[in-house]
Amino acid sequence: MHNPEVVIVLAAGEGTRMKSATSKVLHPIAGRTVLGHVLAAIKPLAARELRVVIGAHKDAVQAHIAEISPEALTVYQAERNGTGHAVQLALAGAATTGSVLILAGDTPLITSETLKEFVAVHYANESSASVLTADLPDPFGYGRIVRDDEGDISRIVEERDADDEVKAISEINTGIYLFDNGALREAAAKLSKDNSQGELYLTDVIALIKEAGRVALAIRTNDYSEVLGINDRSQLAECTAIMRDRINDAVMKSGVTIVDPTTTWIDADVKIENDVIIHPGSLLAGTTIVASGAVIGPRTSLTNVIVGEGAKVIESTCTDSEIGAQANVGPYSFLRPGTKLAANSKAGAYVEIKNSSIGEGSKVPHLSYVGDATIGSGTNIGAATIFVNYDGVEKHQTTVGDSVRIGSDTMLVAPVTIGDGAYTAAGSIITEDVPAGSIGVARAKQRNVLGWVLRKRAGSSSAEAAKRAGATERE
Ligand code: UD1
Ligand code: MG
Repeated sequence: MHNPEVVIVLAAGEGTRMKSATSKVLHPIAGRTVLGHVLAAIKPLAARELRVVIGAHKDAVQAHIAEISPEALTVYQAERNGTGHAVQLALAGAATTGSVLILAGDTPLITSETLKEFVAVHYANESSASVLTADLPDPFGYGRIVRDDEGDISRIVEERDADDEVKAISEINTGIYLFDNGALREAAAKLSKDNSQGELYLTDVIALIKEAGRVALAIRTNDYSEVLGINDRSQLAECTAIMRDRINDAVMKSGVTIVDPTTTWIDADVKIENDVIIHPGSLLAGTTIVASGAVIGPRTSLTNVIVGEGAKVIESTCTDSEIGAQANVGPYSFLRPGTKLAANSKAGAYVEIKNSSIGEGSKVPHLSYVGDATIGSGTNIGAATIFVNYDGVEKHQTTVGDSVRIGSDTMLVAPVTIGDGAYTAAGSIITEDVPAGSIGVARAKQRNVLGWVLRKRAGSSSAEAAKRAGATERE
C-alpha cells in the first residue's frame, strides 16, 4: 500500500453561512466535530505529515486539533486568498517527496476506505495529479470537471467562471486531491489570480500539470453522499442524518436490534455488544459502552455511560455513570455524573442519583434523591427518601450499610451513617448516626383528635361519611 507523504486539510474558511459564533468545522456530528470526522478518516492512511490550514476562529480550532490530533501541524492563513494560497502556505517547510493528499475540513462523511481506494488508483495509473469527482443531481456551486475528447480531465472550472456549456456538466470537483509532491509545487508556484474571485484557485493546478505533459486523473466515486460539504445548517442536518444511518447500519450488522433506526442516535465512538435491544427515541452518546443483552429505551439518553450485561434502562437520562449487570433503571430516572449502580441493583421510577454508589442488589425503587452517598449491598431505600447532602454551603457524605431498610419518606441529613442491618422509621428526619441493627425513629408521635371533623366541618361530605361510619362529636 502507498501512503501519502503529506496530508493537507483546508480549514481556514469563515463559514459565513452557518451564522454561528462557533467555527463551521467545530460543529458536532455524532459526538465528533466536523473536522474530527475528517481527521479520523485520514488517520488510517498513515501519512508522514499532517498539516491543517486554519484562519477563522483560529484559537478554538487550534486548541481542538491539539486535543484530538496532537501530531498535526497547524498553518495559519491570515488572509483568505483562496485554496491555492492555502496550499502554498501549507507546502512551505513540508516534505518535498512522495505524494500530497489535500482535502477540505468540512466534508465529514468521507471514509478511509474511499480515500485508500483513491490513493491506490492514483498510484496504479502513475498519475501526477488526481482529483476525486462525483456526479451530482444538482451540481450548482461546485467546480466542474471538463474532460477532453479522450475523456481525460483537462481542467476544473468554478461555477462563477463557467459558461452555460460548462454549467451543464454534472461531474463536480469534490475538493479531494492527490498530487505528486514535485508536480504540485511546480504548478502551485505558477498560480495566478486571473479569475472572477481574484483568488489563487487550487483547482487551476490540474490544467498546469497537464500542460507540463504529466498525467492528470479524474477519479469518480459512486457514492456522492461521502463528499457532501457543510456550508449551512440544513447541510449540517443532512450530513448528520446520513451519519446516523451509517452508524446504525454498522451497529445492526454487528448484531444489535435497533427497533426504529430513524429515531435512534448513536455517536461514532459508542461501543455496543451484540444482542442489545435499543427501543425508539434513544440517544447513545460520547464514550458510552453497552454490554450484551442490555435493553435500552424507549426514550433514553446515555452519555458516557457504561451499561453491564442484561441491564435495562427505560425512559431515563444518564450521564457519566456506571450501570451494573442485570441492574434496572427507570422509568424516569436521572443518573448524574458519578453514579455507580452495582450488579442487580435498581434505580426505579422518578429517582435522581449523583456521585453515589449503590451496592449489589440494593434498590432505590421510587421517587428519591440520592446524592454523595455510599450504599452497601442488599439495602432498600424506601419511597420518597431524600439524601439531604447540601447544607446551603457545602456538600456532605452519607454512608448506608448492608441490608439496611430505610423507611419511606426518610430525610438522611448528611453527614450521617446508617449501620449494617439498621432500619429507619418512615417519615424520620435522621440527623444522627444509626448503629448497626438499630431502628432510628425521629418524628412526632401521632395524636388523634376524636370528633374534630364533625365539630369543625359540620355538614361537609366528610362529616356525613364519618357519621355513617358511627363517629360522634364527642372528643
Ligand atoms: C472549492 C473548489 C471547487 C470544489 C469545492 C468542493 C476551489 C477554487 N474550488 O470550492 O472546485 O467543487 O471546493 O467543495 O478550490 N479555504 C482555505 N483558505 C482559503 C480558501 C478556502 O483554507 O483561502 C478552505 C475552506 O475553509 C474550505 C476549503 O478550503 O474548507 C474550500 O474552500 P471554499 O471556499 O469552500 O471553496 P468552494 O467555493 O466550496
Ligand atoms: Mg465549500
